Amino acid sequence: MAMTTEDLIAVAWEARERAYAPYSNFKVGAALLSADGQVFQGCNVENISYGLTICAERVAIGAAVAQGVTKFDRVAVVADTKEPVSPCGACRQVLAEFGVKTIILANKQGSVAFSLEELLPRASTGILDRP
Ligand code: THU
Repeated sequence: MAMTTEDLIAVAWEARERAYAPYSNFKVGAALLSADGQVFQGCNVENISYGLTICAERVAIGAAVAQGVTKFDRVAVVADTKEPVSPCGACRQVLAEFGVKTIILANKQGSVAFSLEELLPRASTGILDRP
């Protein structure tokens, strides 16, 4: 059965439960749908050396790539915020690397979907525009 956006968001909330965020107490969950219909979960993984923190989106990408999956359809990112959480610049670049087409951002009130182009204009121009 095809994964709906609501399903994907629910899987992201489940991943968020496992966030390791003792420093910020800001838990984030991600669920990444591959082109062949598999779902990979991610949560933020913080570190006492703060700069080593990995965001939920990048953890999900890494989990998929480690399983040999590099083609994606969309990702849902969730957090308990007033406005739907928005991926950091680094994560936008990593999502661009793997051509994640749609980025769904959700909080407990609802969700909003963006294209990669909207969140990172001209991502395939320049450094990613290689032969
Ligand atoms: N964070 C994510 O995991 N994804 C986002 O889209 C926004 C920020 C994490 C990083 C850090 O652990 C915490 O949220 C606070 O920035």
